[in-house]
Amino acid sequence: MSTDVSGWSELIGDAARRFALRRHRLFINGAWQDAADGGTFETLDPASGTVVTSVADAGPADIDAAVRAARSALEAVTWKKMTPIDRGRLLNRLADLIESNAQELAELESLDNGKPLSAALNGDVAGTAKIFRYFAGWPSKLEGATIPVSPSGGRTFLNYTRSEPVGVCGLIVPWNFPLSMAAWKLAPALAAGCGCILKPAEQTPLTALRLAELIDEAGFPAGIVNVMTGRGATAGAALVAHPGVDKIAFTGSTQVGKSIARQCADSLKRVTLELGGKSPNIILPDADPAEVAEAAAAAIFYNQGQVCTAGSRLYIHKKHFDRVVADIASKAQSIRIGPGLEAGTQMGPLVSSLQHQRVSDYVSIGRNEGGTTITGGGRPHDRPEGYFFEPTVFVDTRDGARIVKEEIFGPVLTAMPWDDIDDLVNRANDSPFGLAAGIWTRDVKEAHRLAAQLKAGTVWVNCYNVTDPASPFGGFKESGWGRELGRKGIENYLETKSVWINVD
Ligand code: NAI
Ligand code: MG
Repeated sequence: MSTDVSGWSELIGDAARRFALRRHRLFINGAWQDAADGGTFETLDPASGTVVTSVADAGPADIDAAVRAARSALEAVTWKKMTPIDRGRLLNRLADLIESNAQELAELESLDNGKPLSAALNGDVAGTAKIFRYFAGWPSKLEGATIPVSPSGGRTFLNYTRSEPVGVCGLIVPWNFPLSMAAWKLAPALAAGCGCILKPAEQTPLTALRLAELIDEAGFPAGIVNVMTGRGATAGAALVAHPGVDKIAFTGSTQVGKSIARQCADSLKRVTLELGGKSPNIILPDADPAEVAEAAAAAIFYNQGQVCTAGSRLYIHKKHFDRVVADIASKAQSIRIGPGLEAGTQMGPLVSSLQHQRVSDYVSIGRNEGGTTITGGGRPHDRPEGYFFEPTVFVDTRDGARIVKEEIFGPVLTAMPWDDIDDLVNRANDSPFGLAAGIWTRDVKEAHRLAAQLKAGTVWVNCYNVTDPASPFGGFKESGWGRELGRKGIENYLETKSVWINVD
């Protein structure tokens, strides 16, 4: 393996460097082991395209071992009889460890994914600790209900419900927020008392592997969390197909999400899906154009545009259109593009050459469809290496154009003028997706009216891309099934049992 550390090694702390350069193995039943067939794959630094290190490539035999480990850990006395308070204590301890290792985790995330270090530290890692902290409070609050059932056949009954863990959960996460997407699934699963197999994305395995060490250090019983690096088509597919898995929680592409749903239909595994989006961000005539231009740029360019909720369809009231578009373009041109680990970087590279190709292709498609890029559109001239892409703004698009309909998952905004509010609502809702929407206005009545009309799992008013562990997140339509976070989120990791006691 030709590991080239020249690009990033000076930009990273000792702990993260040492960890990154290790040859990584699978975390099964509390121990580190190679893939059964010895397979490995490489993870890259997207800022240079060079190899960081190699990780184990889990195959079906490894997935099977992990599923068995999770099952026995789940059924072992240590976990089964652990008090809810103690389960919460473990989650809090993990949150503490994430906080005390925050800099290292952020450096690993920035190295592996490409995102700016500050975003990794203040967004991803801080958010991850918060997720575990929030769900640490849940184990002791998983109440059932007593239900006033009617007497039947001369007998009276006490009927009550129990919330029980759904069982072994396969957690398949993407590369755009690797650590926090892992936490969004692990934290509620563990709070609910489930056993877990986490499969990080092949582009970004490093923070999940470091998290496995912290999970071990926090004192979770061996086997309760297994971390399996591997490819989607092999490790991911084996997890979905495994009869010992009770539930799949997936975040990723709509295409893979649909195929997982089809497979889960066969086994009737529980499944939740958090998929793509093409979210409308709507500027009303009374909004302050200077303020919204800044916010609309952030809504699409954050995380290099690789965000499922990215505000990729910007609908600007026609009276502000020229001004806001010009402001966003100048904002786009002022964004400092560079390696995520370099101080001052505001936008890093895209995650992979494949993603760079996808985004480039969409720009060509958009131009061929008659759209005009008023800024950006390709690789920055001063960045010949790595997967960098300029913040890009399209105008003159038709509503039916592919770049208006399809998720691009890169820093590409389509700005469109609007005039009539009812027509606007129809256009905003005219999408197979329904993940999120933004509204910018000072008119309280209009904000509530629109929030009710938009077909989206999240509506942000005068803000964008805000999440909290307590607030449910997920999609309408093809953006997914179910909700993550909050009470709704933990319910996906529970089965309800109705218990009848004849009390006559
Ligand atoms: P993907 O859906 O292939 O990958 C996401 C995760 O699913 C990864 O862990 C991958 O290994 C796993 N996976 C892939 N195929 C699988 C299979 N057959 N069975 C089980 N697991 C499987 O997404 P990809 O190719 O990385 O990105 C493609 C597009 O998906 C992006 O351009 C973007 O539009 C969308 N996407 C959406 C995300 C979101 O947050 N909703 C996150 C990542 C990608
Ligand atoms: Mg990588």
